[in-house]
Amino acid sequence: MNKFTPAKPAGARSVDEITGSRRLRRMRKADWSRRLVQENRLSVDDLIWPIFVVDGKNIREPIAAMPGVFRLSLDLAVKEAERAAKLGIPAIATFPNVELGLRDQTGSHILDPENVINRATRAIKHAVPEIGIITDAALDPFTSHGHDGILRDGIIVNDETVEQVTAAAVIQAAAGADIIAPSDMMDGRIGAIRDALDANGFQDVAIMSYATKFASAFYGPYREAVGTAGLLKGDKKTYYLDHANSDEAVREAEQDLAEGADMLMVKPGLPYLDIIRRLKDEFRMPTFAYQVSGEYSMIKAAAANGWIDGDKAMLESLLAFKRAGCDGILTYFAPEVAAMLKG
Ligand code: PBG
Repeated sequence: MNKFTPAKPAGARSVDEITGSRRLRRMRKADWSRRLVQENRLSVDDLIWPIFVVDGKNIREPIAAMPGVFRLSLDLAVKEAERAAKLGIPAIATFPNVELGLRDQTGSHILDPENVINRATRAIKHAVPEIGIITDAALDPFTSHGHDGILRDGIIVNDETVEQVTAAAVIQAAAGADIIAPSDMMDGRIGAIRDALDANGFQDVAIMSYATKFASAFYGPYREAVGTAGLLKGDKKTYYLDHANSDEAVREAEQDLAEGADMLMVKPGLPYLDIIRRLKDEFRMPTFAYQVSGEYSMIKAAAANGWIDGDKAMLESLLAFKRAGCDGILTYFAPEVAAMLKG
């Protein structure tokens, strides 16, 4: 066999000469030293758990595209909220799957104080007062076309949508929501919601702005969960951010903060870690990521096939958010990871 021996450079330097004796592996040599120098940690206090709610009793409906996630009737949603509180999860975010007959052009059922979201808030607040409740004021689960706003002649009309979303936010606050998180991306919604909350005596209800929500392919499984997948025609590019843009994301966040947002959110999560870091550095505000349905399902699907270690990938993806600058993460993994962190 022909063996090729590359020539050593004349006067070849040793590794200590090359590195100046600085060896970064020294602190990685053992578990104890790795733990000692670990910069970021994931804790249960970082978790917000998004759950899906439906009308009825004793319903625990699997969502095919989201293994391990269920649509829950309120009796079971309350039980899950109790479990979450016991695990130490600080807050829950609720999303409804509303029966089709209640959906219309303007999403008017969002204004019903007795809709499933407002009843969920009251039921959970009553049974588990120590857990925070975050509600979305976007119209998409309530419209017959699956868009987040009011659709007229093929256009999502901004100002009329803001009025509807604002009224919905006040009703959600009256039901007991602690944080309003509007995900619709209409211009002016944060300021309008702040004014309306204050005018109705809800000064203490906070606003978590979905400040930078990108038009994304990663929302697919969520649309199955809330039943908008079959309704939605076209895309959401006239209101969500172009995923090519980063400066525009900063301008969106700046605007929402000027209008009174208490917290910022970036959505989706993992493909947008650069945006998280920019917002944290620029504004130093409480910053959150939404690890969306598609991100969750990709990890679950690969793990189910034995292609990756699901638990490790879950923990690695969540820690990445902390490293990028997040104060917390909305994640469907919340109860799973909380149980793991406890054990
Ligand atoms: C819409 C909304 C979306 C999600 C939550 N609310 C996106 C969409 O359907 O366009 C996505 C959540 C997820 O994918 O986990 N206001």
